[in-house]
Amino acid sequence: MISQELIQLIRETFQLNWKGVHGVSHWARVRLNGLLIAEKNGANLRVVELFAFLHDIKREADFNDPLHGERAAQFIETLPDELLEINQGEKKLLMLACHDHSKGFIEADMTVGTCWDADRLDLGRGGQRPNTRKLCTEVAKQPDFFEQAYQRAIYQHRSQSNIALVQKWKPAL
Ligand SMILES: [Fe+2]
Repeated sequence: MISQELIQLIRETFQLNWKGVHGVSHWARVRLNGLLIAEKNGANLRVVELFAFLHDIKREADFNDPLHGERAAQFIETLPDELLEINQGEKKLLMLACHDHSKGFIEADMTVGTCWDADRLDLGRGGQRPNTRKLCTEVAKQPDFFEQAYQRAIYQHRSQSNIALVQKWKPAL
């Protein structure tokens, strides 16, 4: 669980549309994807959950912002371990997962790879079917698992009120 104090900080820090393609519904699906993968592969649940809420926290634009992961990692470094409720080892994993999450890497520590897959499985919200060859974990590549995540993501694409926003978004992955 994320504390009220951390949620408040996230609300104050995030500068983009709360309901946009990188907003709170995306974070909620990344959290669900990540926890479902972690349930099967043993990835660190705390890191996976924090990644969901923090990996896009320092985005300055929805469309072209290649350094947003690095800014997220720098931001996390400034946060007290007590606020995040993690130890130093978990914090390093979280920072790495955020730092490199949009670089397209497919080999990583199990927890880091789980974070990246949780995010990539949600590309359907932009109308794009993720490429299974660009996923890290065997769990995420399983056809049933993949399809269920894709259907959750595409639901936002279909129901997106600001459709122009989604159509302009062309993720690199
Ligand atoms: Fe994301």
